[in-house]
Amino acid sequence: MINQEETLANVTVVGLGKIGLTLAAVFANNHFNVYGSDINEGVVATINQGKSHITNEPGLDQLVAAAYNSKTLSATTETAEAVAKSNIVIVIVPVLIDNQYNVDYQFIDAAVKEIARGMKEDTLVIFETTIPPGDTQYRFGKKLQELSGLRLGEEFYLAYSPERVYSNRIIEDLKKYPKIVGGINEKSRELAVDFYKKALNCKLIEVSSLETAEFSKVAECVYRDVNIALANELAKFTEKIGVNMSEVRKASNSQPYSYLHEPGIGVGGHCIPIYPYFFINKGLTKGMTPMARKINDSMADYAINKVEEEVGSLKDKNVLILGLAYRENVKEPTKSTTLLLIDRLIKLRANVFVNDPLFTNSEIKQYGVSPLSLQSEFTSKMDAVILQAFHKAYESLDFTKFISCKIILDGRNKLNKNEIQRLGITYRSIGNDDIKERL
Ligand SMILES: NC(=O)c1ccc[n+]([C@@H]2O[C@H](COP(=O)([O-])OP(=O)(O)OC[C@H]3O[C@@H](n4cnc5c(N)ncnc54)[C@H](O)[C@@H]3O)[C@@H](O)[C@H]2O)c1
Repeated sequence: MINQEETLANVTVVGLGKIGLTLAAVFANNHFNVYGSDINEGVVATINQGKSHITNEPGLDQLVAAAYNSKTLSATTETAEAVAKSNIVIVIVPVLIDNQYNVDYQFIDAAVKEIARGMKEDTLVIFETTIPPGDTQYRFGKKLQELSGLRLGEEFYLAYSPERVYSNRIIEDLKKYPKIVGGINEKSRELAVDFYKKALNCKLIEVSSLETAEFSKVAECVYRDVNIALANELAKFTEKIGVNMSEVRKASNSQPYSYLHEPGIGVGGHCIPIYPYFFINKGLTKGMTPMARKINDSMADYAINKVEEEVGSLKDKNVLILGLAYRENVKEPTKSTTLLLIDRLIKLRANVFVNDPLFTNSEIKQYGVSPLSLQSEFTSKMDAVILQAFHKAYESLDFTKFISCKIILDGRNKLNKNEIQRLGITYRSIGNDDIKERL
């Protein structure tokens, strides 16, 4: 067991992004001395001034400032040096997927090399990044052993504990959700459990292997993707039958065994649309997992078809997409459905405009589209508007500015249908169209 003195000594958190910095700040406020390491010098410099580079994460600024004041959090680009001073190393560096859906390990492989350089006897390394089952042991554990010369499970310890939090409420989720912990052996698991008990003070679920812990995280994401795909399939069918999907969901979900998710224009972000490929690439090539991916990625086309039904050919038509972000109130464009919408609209030769209050004009321009402020008079020239991410700013959207608009496609079923229709604009959605009007 790690004794109290050692535990309250040094932890290195490798990767100071949204999750890594939050973890580092929470640990540092729970009596651990934390070194955060990141390859981004700007990130490191900001943290070393007691500030957070992450926006929109409630409570994080205060935790970083408190840790800075109590001198329990510092940041560095020198991962190996920080690891050399630590008993515990937490790895929370992303694993991505490329355009051909191959797993891209470049960042985490580089981090593992640096960790191996700094590791000493008895170091506990815990991976938290979502990864394909088997990787902790057979890719990273093996590499750490080979590069450090220390024997895995005997001279250094290895555990996996997935991060299950949600952006915008990470600190709250860290307390709320049980931490799933698996180890390469019993000793590794016990050391990790002991650490999380003190560092997070949350419930723990100990599982029998690293692979069980890895699998459980990917399974959560697959469950959500499949559930949303089912909701989308049913939403499309409600439109044929002539019932309203929101009403159906509310009624069905009043019974505890039914937990239909919300249908919508698509699934984005760096979790749900990506992690199913961690199973698909390992052989789960048939059945619901790959099918759900196809259904959810087809929703952007489904929405555009509805716009075409109303407007006709979209060639030279002005189409405004609300929200570059993949979901409401986060500045995160990864795998946003807006990217699928842009792709298709450009192929149809529409003039594509994007509004997103969380992004700058130059950030939006990177996607080959024109940014459009809602204050601009040019809003009056839009032929169609598509809501992709229901940001707070859109809750009080003034639809009167869209005087030439023929259709508003509400991809999140959140806009005020009556107000839109009162202005003579056609309202379409995913499963919540006005049935009487359509029949
Ligand atoms: N963001 C979420 O909502 C969320 C939720 C659950 C789980 N996760 C998991 O957490 C991981 C990290 O997510 P995030 O949102 O914090 O990512 P992020 O992109 O915000 O941050 C990643 C950080 O890692 C740094 N980095 C890259 N290579 C490095 C290296 N070799 N050494 C040190 N630092 C390096 C980057 O500079 C960046 O600061 C995800 O890949 C995922 O597995 C994320």
